[in-house]
Amino acid sequence: MKFFLDTADLAEIEEAASWGVLAGVTTNPTLYSRIGGKLADFPNHIKKICDMVDGPVSAESVAMTRDEIIRDGRELAAIAPNVVVKVPTMIEGLAATKALAAEGIPVNMTLCFTVPQAIMAARSGARYISPFIGRFDDISEDGLAQFADVVQAIGNYDFTDHTVNGEKIEIIAASVRSANHVAQAALMGADIATVPFATLKKCVQHPLTDRGLETFLKDWEKVQ
Ligand code: E4P
Repeated sequence: MKFFLDTADLAEIEEAASWGVLAGVTTNPTLYSRIGGKLADFPNHIKKICDMVDGPVSAESVAMTRDEIIRDGRELAAIAPNVVVKVPTMIEGLAATKALAAEGIPVNMTLCFTVPQAIMAARSGARYISPFIGRFDDISEDGLAQFADVVQAIGNYDFTDHTVNGEKIEIIAASVRSANHVAQAALMGADIATVPFATLKKCVQHPLTDRGLETFLKDWEKVQ
């Protein structure tokens, strides 16, 4: 499983990239607004991220009609070769994804929750699909169980006739809130987990690692 960072924060991206684990970035309107981003600077900001990351960078269209999403998608794709256009899983989004994929523009279908949504996203030509985990948990449903169903269903079929250049569709575990979400998504066969920076840090931390390190350091003092 690959790690993407779920952020628009350049300092977080720079730091995670230095660890050697960063394979891509996903942004969304909330994440961009959280760093104080402004509409006029959005293309420039996405370009900065694209230059920092050796991998796909998802930039989201907020349009609601297929024609507007297609227009946004073309503009976003022109920013850098590693831009992936993020499109919501809805009827207009499916139609836009079909058109963008036909032009060779990769799409990440977002706000995907169920098996039928995921299969429709895949059939429409999405290169990535992003089933959300945490937002199910937020409404007292089991996000990981829903995610497992999507992974199993997508794995049952071959969608390479539908994707740009016949590439294998990849499932991005999204709305990830904990290291356990990351662990379970990997066990279920997610291709990618897109993880907030704070959660990515937690993925490398463990109390037994800390305790072991403390003991080694103390014992090393004895040999001085
Ligand atoms: C990523 O593609 C999603 O936009 C993101 O993971 C959503 O996470 P949230 O549910 O924590 O906002």
